[in-house]
Amino acid sequence: MNISEQYTISWQAPSNIALIKYWGKHGNQLPNNTSLSITLQKATTTTRLTATPLRVTDSLNNGINVDFKFEGAAQPTFGSRIEKHLASLSRQMPYLKDFKLAVDSSNTFPHSAGIASSASSMAALSLCLTDLQKNITKYNKIENDFFRSASLLARLGSGSASRSVYGGWVTWGKSEHIPGSSDEYASPLEIDKDTLFQDMGVAVMIISSKPKKLSSSIGHKLMEQHPWAQARYLQAEENLGQILKAIKSGDFEEFSRITENEALSLHSLLMTSSPEGLLMKPASLKIIEEVRHFRKNMGIPVCFTMDAGPNVLLIYPKSYKTQVTDFIQSEIVHHCENGKWIDDQIGGGPMKII
Ligand code: DP6
Repeated sequence: MNISEQYTISWQAPSNIALIKYWGKHGNQLPNNTSLSITLQKATTTTRLTATPLRVTDSLNNGINVDFKFEGAAQPTFGSRIEKHLASLSRQMPYLKDFKLAVDSSNTFPHSAGIASSASSMAALSLCLTDLQKNITKYNKIENDFFRSASLLARLGSGSASRSVYGGWVTWGKSEHIPGSSDEYASPLEIDKDTLFQDMGVAVMIISSKPKKLSSSIGHKLMEQHPWAQARYLQAEENLGQILKAIKSGDFEEFSRITENEALSLHSLLMTSSPEGLLMKPASLKIIEEVRHFRKNMGIPVCFTMDAGPNVLLIYPKSYKTQVTDFIQSEIVHHCENGKWIDDQIGGGPMKII
């Protein structure tokens, strides 16, 4: 172990969008059902971690010494979440308290875009931490274990972040449908090379750029008292089995049915929680109707999903990009806030910068 050196590490990690939703958790950030996501390409966070060894006398305070900056400025809300997260890692990384840590983060997407930034930022930080761990403990396991360790650390910071350490299609949570799956970390899902689902487009329709009213942690907590909770976890497992079959057989209609059912189930759970979360807006419903109408009448494979907020995301095979972009321009953008939307796609996963 060498904690006398200064380490500077930087990783870029993408956000992701879940199709089978993680909603409800227990224990130390363990999911109540398995989720499935697509990793985005353009919506990313870059984080630089500088770890400077403290002098012996400084390190006796036993606390975490971290200075967090977002796009060059202090950001107390996320800063204190990061500090808490780092303090909770004392079992995995006892030497963290022997360093002065500086974390500098920036996003490629606006904070107000309605894309979950906790997934990309916790993933980027966890990749930096795993790299630090690798340097300090000189462990040299196979590459796969590096990302698995990073996914586990990311999960402890934010559940959906566990999926952002991999590109493409990713699952998180133990399921009978996925051999070797675990609640502790995410795993990449292999998709046949020649299927419709290999290369996906993701278009984010911005209905409201105001930060969402309900934080995910509060939302997950609401599931503890929700009268439909057990039925929801069974539904998610069944939907997972069916969506995996639809992906394998190239059945976009069935894929759409399940993806849309998951988005609407999440919002149904939100609306029937106590206190309730009515996050859908009239414009969200308009877009949902337009997408269904377009798919049915034009036969173009495009469906929608939503996060715990009003924005609607269009999911489609990238080979239909021209048709879907024309449809967005003519039928959808006027429902968006100031005509704003983000043109993203499935991405290859995180990248090491330094
Ligand atoms: C609706 O991962 O943000 O986006 O673990 O409390 O940080 P925490 O929750 P978070 O929840 C994400 C919820 C979701 C669905 C999903 O991404 O699977």
